[in-house]
Amino acid sequence: MKKQLLSGVCIFLFISTLQAHCERTPIYLDETQPIEQRIEDALSRMTLEEKIAMIHAQAKFSSPGVARLGIPEIWCTDGPHGIRPEVLWDEWEQAKWTNDSCTAFPALTCLAATWDPQISLLYGKSIGEEARYRNKSILLGPGVNIYRTPLNGRNFEYMGEDPYLASKMVVPYIQGVQSNGVAACVKHYALNNNEKNRHTTNVIVDDRALHEIYLPAFKAAVQEGNVWSIMGSYNLYKNQHCCHNQYLLNDILKKEWGFDGVVISDWGGVHDTDQAITNGLDLEFGSWTNGLTNGTSNAYNNYYMADPYLKRIKLEQVGTKELDDKIRRILRLIFRTTMNRNRPYGSFATPEHFMAARSIGEQGIVLLQNKNNVLPINIAKTKKIAVIGENAIKMMTVGGGSSSLKALHEISPLEGIKSRLKNKVEIVYARGYVGDSSNEYNGVITRQNLKDNRSAKELIDEAIKISQDADYVIFIGGLNKSAGQDCEDADRKGIELPYNQDKVIEALSTVNKNVIVVNISGNAIAMPWVKKVPAIIQAWFLGSEAGNALASILVGDVNPSGKLPFTFPAKLEHVGAHKLNSYPGVKRENSSIIDERYNESIYVGYRWMEKEHIKPLFAFGHGLSYTTFKYGKPSISTTQMTTSDTLTITIPITNIGKREGAEVVQLYIADKKSSLPRPIKELKGFQKVQLAPGETQYVSFIVDQNSLSYFNDTLHKWIAEAGEFEAIIGSSSEEIKARINFELK
Ligand code: BGC
Repeated sequence: MKKQLLSGVCIFLFISTLQAHCERTPIYLDETQPIEQRIEDALSRMTLEEKIAMIHAQAKFSSPGVARLGIPEIWCTDGPHGIRPEVLWDEWEQAKWTNDSCTAFPALTCLAATWDPQISLLYGKSIGEEARYRNKSILLGPGVNIYRTPLNGRNFEYMGEDPYLASKMVVPYIQGVQSNGVAACVKHYALNNNEKNRHTTNVIVDDRALHEIYLPAFKAAVQEGNVWSIMGSYNLYKNQHCCHNQYLLNDILKKEWGFDGVVISDWGGVHDTDQAITNGLDLEFGSWTNGLTNGTSNAYNNYYMADPYLKRIKLEQVGTKELDDKIRRILRLIFRTTMNRNRPYGSFATPEHFMAARSIGEQGIVLLQNKNNVLPINIAKTKKIAVIGENAIKMMTVGGGSSSLKALHEISPLEGIKSRLKNKVEIVYARGYVGDSSNEYNGVITRQNLKDNRSAKELIDEAIKISQDADYVIFIGGLNKSAGQDCEDADRKGIELPYNQDKVIEALSTVNKNVIVVNISGNAIAMPWVKKVPAIIQAWFLGSEAGNALASILVGDVNPSGKLPFTFPAKLEHVGAHKLNSYPGVKRENSSIIDERYNESIYVGYRWMEKEHIKPLFAFGHGLSYTTFKYGKPSISTTQMTTSDTLTITIPITNIGKREGAEVVQLYIADKKSSLPRPIKELKGFQKVQLAPGETQYVSFIVDQNSLSYFNDTLHKWIAEAGEFEAIIGSSSEEIKARINFELK
């Protein structure tokens, strides 16, 4: 009896303790509570030291949580084309894990070339699943710096030259990533348009160019994509480094755009404690970029936002207002990601992801030229194909800087072509030239031995020999991911193809009339041989499924539908930044700072070419198909609109060829008369339509005030000025199919 009574009392005590405990579940752990209340609760429980620890790195890619409170650490990963392999705690070197070989997706230039927001959503969702599976809180990407010069070593990581296209493509990527409970981190904010001198370049740009060209994609990422983090860039603007920049971070990003996420420094982009405290930076990474290996002891404590900040607070030189704001933002990101119990689990290197990579590649490959319909390859009539060029065999997922990957597999172009045509066509291969034979980047080994000591003549002779009697010659060259090409931290030296490739192509064109040039790059190249070869394909860095995607375009399993997201100029002097001697800027006396004045202002890419009446080699928006599309007569809902309403332009598009295909219909707007100078026309709408042979679809565009506005730098405001406008519909910025006038009242 006594025993029973005792156990009854015990049960009672247990239950009431449990109840009391449950009642005391801290608000920050209670997912039924609004995030903002959870943030305040967590903040109120943190010590000063815990807060300071949280705003800077503890490792190369990680920052601390609050272990005492069960608040998890943050783990970042590059981005933007796949999940970077694990590195050592303090170093860039690989950790040599064996479970981190990812799906390599095509580079962002390829994504932009799809002109398809749905494909961008697929990209974001797939890469987000990979990041989630690998337990990352933040994916360091996508990048949306505007393509200003073809020399920029990092153009391949961005979305081209047009702010409208980049805005429309970046938003679904972010949404896709974040639907996995992983934060996207849009980079590099802002004005990081070349790699040369990236830490010391001070960009001088007028407000119109800033707001009309360089900021819109970031703004869309924030306001439409609701991105949870953003990365400050290495360069300076208004003499302040962009990682702690009063104008860009506080005034524009946080105040004007209402960004509520975390500003992360680029790795090693912080230079000053006081500016870091006050000028909008929230989380500091990579300050001693070689971590503890080469830094001072306890390097992380020496970060600008570590002990030096703590000291200032303790000495009451600064208060904790800014610190609490940073912590709130970091907690918000944690609640949105790792502390969201409902987020999916993710998946990694799945067949679905490889399929997605392939399809993004197929949709983004651009058919630049196709004389006499030499493509697609007519398999039935083909006996022998000669494949020439280093890029037919070289792994391209390794290298390029921080976007370098360790892919589970990478199908080279040659493998893809062989596997598609095996037992049907004889495929022979010759190198043609030797470019970059290295086979290792940051410890990722390609297992390829590309060493070849033959002379240029020997290589060309061999290529010619096997090409003479081939039905087709497919030259696969371009740039690669080695320093000085499409690679971080340096720019290209010129716009020409490197490694003697022009000579190889010329030589091939003299012995075979069916030379198809496949250019693999993230940048425009000069093509002195453009008239000597019938077909040219822009194939980008296509990731794991490169060879399969390319082969399906070459043989016509997939009808090409990609369009250029940037202009191919015939020469470098045809680019505003070069013509006006703005790039790479002028070094200040007795200082390491280089001032780069963006003299061309808003006239970037096609905006410059059109103003100067320069014919591009290949125009922005250009891309051919194996079928033909007929554009009908456009109609307009009204020819007079006001700033508070919209109008709709509709145009019928018919596939008059024999193959199914997709066309990107582009809407440009021209402001006929304006009080400030404006480009001849600007992209303000596009739509990709899939059409069966004979099928017609009506494509509609809504024109609103935003489509007509420019940034008035005196009023610091977007303005749509009353007057005459023209809607211009084209299959590229150059191939205009219809024009229609209307008026803004
Ligand atoms: C790059 C960033 C990258 C970071 C981390 C930097 O050098 O500029 O884009 O995310 O390194 O790898």
